[in-house]
Amino acid sequence: MSFCYINGFYKNNIDAQISVEDRGFNFSDGVYEVMGFRNGKLLNFDKHMYRLCKSLINLQISKPFSNPNSLKIIIYHLLKLNDVNDGFLYLQITRGTAKRNHLFPSNIKPNVVIFTFSKGSLDKIKKGVNVALTEDQRWMRCDIKSISLLANVLDKQKGHESGFFEVWQLRKNLITEGTTSNAFIVNKKSHIYTHPKNNFILGGVTRDCVIELALKNKLKVIEKAFNIDDIRKCNEAFLTSTTLGVIPIIKIEDTIINKKKIGLITKTLMKKLDDYLNKQIYE
Ligand code: PDD
Repeated sequence: MSFCYINGFYKNNIDAQISVEDRGFNFSDGVYEVMGFRNGKLLNFDKHMYRLCKSLINLQISKPFSNPNSLKIIIYHLLKLNDVNDGFLYLQITRGTAKRNHLFPSNIKPNVVIFTFSKGSLDKIKKGVNVALTEDQRWMRCDIKSISLLANVLDKQKGHESGFFEVWQLRKNLITEGTTSNAFIVNKKSHIYTHPKNNFILGGVTRDCVIELALKNKLKVIEKAFNIDDIRKCNEAFLTSTTLGVIPIIKIEDTIINKKKIGLITKTLMKKLDDYLNKQIYE
């Protein structure tokens, strides 16, 4: 039996109810976060909270918790109820419930849902994945972690049906990011390239950690968008997300990357990120 948190209560997942007039349900009018936990400890909590608060402010949704600590208490209680130590949680905040109308009332109370989930083994994926390319069909505020993910869902599905693990999206011939992850390449000079953090990408928490770790390890990071030509010439490529960490890429469309071997920089960052997350367990 799995429990979730819903608007102040802990409920069995199958007993949790949300109104048909929830604005998330009707309009995708809400935001979310996916957070990891290891050994019962939340990872990168402050970074996720910072992004969550920014998303809420951008959508003018009021904060449903007085401070991040009260949310932390709720989450730790949920982990205990579900008897889970390692995994992920999904936290969704919608604008709330109101009679269906595009205009939103000013005094509406947000709906909050939190549930935990686990991922299967990443062993095979960590050996390297393939990536397709497609036009970026999304809106101009990809920096908001909105629950409106239709373009991402459709492109990921299309890629999957053609045998690709992830799909990188292009805007004006420049790679923005994957449908569920951030995109990186390493060029011949061992410089790491990734799209700058602006309204065209979701500023990933893992992206931030990886950049920080790369800089700490004297690697050069250039936050500048790259194109298909750069991909053809690159030495290494990888993607990042909370649920995957750092994942090597061995093929992008028809371009084989690094003879399908995990590059040194990718391998280093995979290890550094893992160490960095493990260190948080004891903080
Ligand atoms: N997705 N870009 C997009 C479009 C994403 O959906 C995600 C994460 C990322 C990586 O962000 P982070 O490192 O903070 O997880 C980048 C989550 C995991 C999801 O929707 O399940």
